[in-house]
Amino acid sequence: MASQWTRAQTRDIKITIDNEAPEIQFPVQLTAEDLWIWDTWPLLDEDGSVSVINGWKIIFALSTPKTVLPGKRHDIARIFYFYSRDGLNWIQGRQLFPEGHSLGSREWAGSAMHSNGQVYIFYTASGRKNETQLTFEQRIVMTAAFIRTTFNGVYFTDWKPHKVILEPDGILYQNQEQGLQPGNIPYTFRDPWFFRDKKDGNAYLLFEANTPGTAQQRKCEPVEARAFSGAVGLAVATNPNLTQWKFLPHIFNADCVNQELERPHFVFKDNLYYLFINTHVSKFAPGVTGPDGLYGFVSNSLTGNYTPLNLGGLVTANPISDAFQAYSWVVLQNGTIISFINFFHLSGLTEADIGSKPESFQFSHFGGTLAPALQININGNSTKLINRNLEDGLVIAGGYDEWRRKHALGIGD
Ligand code: FRU
Repeated sequence: MASQWTRAQTRDIKITIDNEAPEIQFPVQLTAEDLWIWDTWPLLDEDGSVSVINGWKIIFALSTPKTVLPGKRHDIARIFYFYSRDGLNWIQGRQLFPEGHSLGSREWAGSAMHSNGQVYIFYTASGRKNETQLTFEQRIVMTAAFIRTTFNGVYFTDWKPHKVILEPDGILYQNQEQGLQPGNIPYTFRDPWFFRDKKDGNAYLLFEANTPGTAQQRKCEPVEARAFSGAVGLAVATNPNLTQWKFLPHIFNADCVNQELERPHFVFKDNLYYLFINTHVSKFAPGVTGPDGLYGFVSNSLTGNYTPLNLGGLVTANPISDAFQAYSWVVLQNGTIISFINFFHLSGLTEADIGSKPESFQFSHFGGTLAPALQININGNSTKLINRNLEDGLVIAGGYDEWRRKHALGIGD
């Protein structure tokens, strides 16, 4: 039986001094001049640490030109990559995939793994190529390429054909048809996150999903919450090239609690599995709530019994005074956290109100750039913010103090 985030546990979600991020101070250093960027993931080695390839660190981010209305960016998203020697000043690379290569009508979040000079990319193909009407079908796709570095930068060559590796089957994972039944709310099947389990040596993907079936078929209580079925899915690679994958049952769900457990990922520490997800206040079921934030759960086995960190699960929340300022937090193995600046200085409006405001307001209240990094300390069942205001867009491979020391000397970590 997969563990669950229960309605009772969510009563312990509280914003405290240990999880409330400070208000972002503007202006910030922009990751890209002409692009909005949001969901971001660094290139990681197989053990989950940030890759340093001949001195370069590489990040991948969902992107659109800044002329696109922020709320419309999901409809045309493309992955761009950026590289940096210091993990702070990012040089914009190209659109990751040559135009026409990727599947879907737009590219949604994923992950990137480096092994032996190759990069393996896992991403979400949303919709279908050339569709005239935007659809919300989501499929998980992989491709691979060789990484080339020069003194001046990073590029990729010899892309493998893009291959759909996972599509929800309606048995272990809710499929689009089940998600479209009356009473259901939009389904999710996205955000693959690669990891290799040290204990059994297998290559796995975590992904955002929903438990199978329809709201009517669900048994959890109360009845009015049954459309909420967020889950963290699991699949295992069945060949060494990572082109073939098999579903395993989900490892965690939030039936009757929350609809979207986004961008699931792990930190491995003290032989424990720390599972982190993102969600929005608007995705909680009737009668339970929590802020837009990063939530975490810990277990001593991969498929085992996950218990919420800090009792309710809340690890990092936006400040109460600016509740939508950041999103899509990712915790790196060293406890540093990256995220992007979302809608800020809304003066009490919610994210849902933004669409009805003038376009000029929407443009001027959206960050679309990497946020100041944060850092948590993880200890047993609890976490604590220990660095609240690290540099904007900082991605470090080692410890922060060491990075500072090297940065002062002008060398990368
Ligand atoms: C979270 C998210 C992801 C998805 C992306 C689409 O920020 O909803 O789950 O991949 O945005 O833009």
